[in-house]
Amino acid sequence: MTSIINVHNSEKKEVISRHIYGHFAEHLGRCIYEGIWVGEDSPIPNTRGIRNDVVEALRKLEIPNLRWPGGCFADEYHWKDGIGPREDRPSIINNNWGKVVENNHFGTHEFLDLCEQLDTEPYICGNVGSGTVQEMQEWIEYITFDGKSPMADLRKKNGREKPWKLKYFGIGNENWGCGGKMKVEYYADLYRRYQNFVRNYSDTPIYKIAVGPSEADYHWTEVMMREGTDRTEPFPDEVVTDIWEHHRPEMDGIALHYYTRNRANYDSATEFTEDKWFDYMKRTLVMEELIEKHTAIMDKYDPEKTVDLIVDEWGTWFKVEPGTNPGFLYQQNTLRDALVAGINLNIFNNRCDRVHMANVAQMINVLQAMILTEGEKIILTPSYHVFEMYKVHHDATLLPVSVDTGTYEYGEDSVPILNVSASQDDSGKVHISVCNLDPNHSEEITCNLEGIGSFSSVSGRILTAEAMNEHNTFTDPNRIETKAFNEAELRDNVVSLTIPSKSVLVIEVQ
Ligand code: AHR
Repeated sequence: MTSIINVHNSEKKEVISRHIYGHFAEHLGRCIYEGIWVGEDSPIPNTRGIRNDVVEALRKLEIPNLRWPGGCFADEYHWKDGIGPREDRPSIINNNWGKVVENNHFGTHEFLDLCEQLDTEPYICGNVGSGTVQEMQEWIEYITFDGKSPMADLRKKNGREKPWKLKYFGIGNENWGCGGKMKVEYYADLYRRYQNFVRNYSDTPIYKIAVGPSEADYHWTEVMMREGTDRTEPFPDEVVTDIWEHHRPEMDGIALHYYTRNRANYDSATEFTEDKWFDYMKRTLVMEELIEKHTAIMDKYDPEKTVDLIVDEWGTWFKVEPGTNPGFLYQQNTLRDALVAGINLNIFNNRCDRVHMANVAQMINVLQAMILTEGEKIILTPSYHVFEMYKVHHDATLLPVSVDTGTYEYGEDSVPILNVSASQDDSGKVHISVCNLDPNHSEEITCNLEGIGSFSSVSGRILTAEAMNEHNTFTDPNRIETKAFNEAELRDNVVSLTIPSKSVLVIEVQ
């Protein structure tokens, strides 16, 4: 059977926010230390302590935002530990991740320097679990206030005259779990209180992100949407001045966390057979259902869509690589991870009416990483290549697709063969990203673009391999990388092609 993809024009003209392509870097294992921060005296080439090879590779992804410092680490992080002369900063225990020493050499200034080097927007996650309201308020003041104040003066004393631009701020992380084991009713009140003191000191208002549900915890979403914010306007517009700004609890986004993993028995990242290929495709597709059900609750309380869904932790979670610290979450990354990335990103694109931002966990050396490092060496993972290919969707207009495809069957179970999203950029080019979940069969595709425009050429790029578990290693760093795909034909605005088994393909039509 041939699969049919019909690409539609939508009157809504929804934009796929580039922030869907965000990343996450936590003080966990070798993500920050070694992966990013090597210190100014390191033999590894660096700029003010941040490694140049990693920055150079990540800049190619045009990362829109970077979430930091956690994760679970965020709710034990006291930001004042990480400012001032490095030799005076306290060494603390990283309680969540291996109980190793955290010397605080990478703090607020270093993170914001990294964001400037990457040309990306910071997304800082504040401490609700063990931090005070005052501490959170002062952090915002330290980073963003351009006048005279104790925190602005402290920042200047520490070498930064001008404030930084900060838009995205999280009010805690997983406060249902590592962030304090709270009930949602309690967190909803805390959210209202903490966010109240997150002031706007610049002409970039802070975009406040509430802790949202874990996976299918629909009760959490229900209570947060009902009680965490108040959408009734208590004053007429003309009297809503700065004075009243903080009288209404505000929520710009609510976070959802969902990992593709088998919690009952964490599997190997590289050693697997088809059962585990199928299993992880199926687990990934659950993201679609979660977004649908959480957004249905959001729609009930917020039909005007003033609150965004922020999937600020997603990705694969496997058993750590043999011989590595179990608390460091270091895993390899194969073609299977590339499919997981491609499918999730397609799902987010297709739901960009609510999903404003997403952050893959994590950027380097942790979970579904873009880059792995070993001393001075780095390798780019298959997931990196998917993010690079999908850049074409950043801020492009969504073109809804209807996909008529068969099923990839395994045992008694099945999933759709294809997973697809499409967009049109400002220059009129159309990009269609297609994942073939079937590891055994290629699939013929007819893709109909009638009504979208008049097109004269088609090209493409593909990521695939012979083996399901193909991955790059430090001795063989380019085993799996993208290639040109020249086998698509275009006639009368219809593209015909055969997508190889187990592949991620991005087609460009112009
Ligand atoms: O990404 C690893 C951890 O997963 C994060 O610290 C936490 O928020 C989540 O449970």
